[in-house]
Amino acid sequence: MNFNLSDEHLMIQQAARDFAQAELLPGVIERDNAQKFPHEQVKKMGELGFLGMMVDPKYGGAGMDSISYVLAIEEIAKVDASAAVVMSVNNSLVCAGLEKYCNEEQKMKYLFPLASGEVIGAFALSEPEAGSDATSQRTTAVDMGDHYILNGTKNWITNGGNATYYIVIAQTDPEKKHKGINAFIVEKGWEGFEIGPKEDKLGIRGSDTHSLLFTDVKVPKENRIGEDGFGFNFAMGVLNGGRIGIASQALGIASGAYELALKYAKERKAFGTEIINHQAIAFKLADMATQIMAARMLCYKAAVEKDEGKDISEIGAMAKLYASQVAMDTSIEAVQIHGGYGYVKEYHVERMMRDAKITQIYEGTSEIQRIVISRSISKK
Ligand code: CAA
Repeated sequence: MNFNLSDEHLMIQQAARDFAQAELLPGVIERDNAQKFPHEQVKKMGELGFLGMMVDPKYGGAGMDSISYVLAIEEIAKVDASAAVVMSVNNSLVCAGLEKYCNEEQKMKYLFPLASGEVIGAFALSEPEAGSDATSQRTTAVDMGDHYILNGTKNWITNGGNATYYIVIAQTDPEKKHKGINAFIVEKGWEGFEIGPKEDKLGIRGSDTHSLLFTDVKVPKENRIGEDGFGFNFAMGVLNGGRIGIASQALGIASGAYELALKYAKERKAFGTEIINHQAIAFKLADMATQIMAARMLCYKAAVEKDEGKDISEIGAMAKLYASQVAMDTSIEAVQIHGGYGYVKEYHVERMMRDAKITQIYEGTSEIQRIVISRSISKK
């Protein structure tokens, strides 16, 4: 497998790096403090093609490969992990699912505005009592002939307040368990669809996370995705790709924290020399660099295999499991290297440490990734 980046890949990486430095870095601390969504920046990400990166241009996307996507998310997350999750959810959970599984009419109506960045989307699977145990859906969609009636609550939905279109997973026939689950496209503003209050979070505070409440919401039958009963397999298929996005976000948090720690270690003096000359610090940086490289290789491999059309459930889970651990370890060590400065907001690494934690939780906790990996290897 060749991981040499092409000129086009390097251009995309540079464009994302320039965008992050020019548009995301200013104000990132203030947005984190105030839990302010990066509206202007997300609009510009759409104009640059970052919100529908892998979607065919005929559906409004940028038609790029998955390595380009990994590169762009890493650069964005290095500076602003909140903007990176907005991007990851829109690309991987929303656009990729719609492109792969929707019919032409649904694609033209919903995918086009989402991939071109005109609007953003959200993916609503988790519920108050169905997080990791995703087959236990309590939200119901009752088949009424030409439409479904949707009732229930979804929790912790990224882009929940700012999305225009929502992919909602619901139980249609409880007797059939996961084979009775369906996925629907629901529009903001439909009668009975309410958005709950914004969650006050530890990290990724610039992104918005809400519960969604559905009371007798009428969903036309043409808004169901795929055949009756396909919703759970749809959600699992979409999450396999989503995990590459979150792994890349985690990689970006790790490399952002590492770069700041390296710079600081070369400048800060203690005991008569720059602290990088103390082995205690140099070895931390050596471990960080090694782990980040390994995480990056897993992300690239998962991306290449996705584009080759292979089953990426195992490699995607490995990439997310490992990269999220590296994000956590690296950001903690980056704070440690900065000493007292690392504990204050101005130096960015404390935010990165807070942002890192969610990468071990959403789109499948680390424990769920281990379930996916262990089931896969046990079949071999
Ligand atoms: N890829 C493809 N199909 C999969 C799959 C995968 N990774 N994992 C399970 N499936 C399929 C199985 O093949 C099976 O389908 P068939 O019956 O057609 O063969 C079906 O799903 C049910 O599988 P299991 O019997 O294994 O179900 P389970 O209940 O034992 O376990 C699970 C399933 C893997 C634990 C699953 O519930 C899971 O992934 N849970 C985590 C959910 C999750 O990631 N939530 C994240 C929320 S989204 C989010 O965070 C978005 C955000 O806003 C950032």
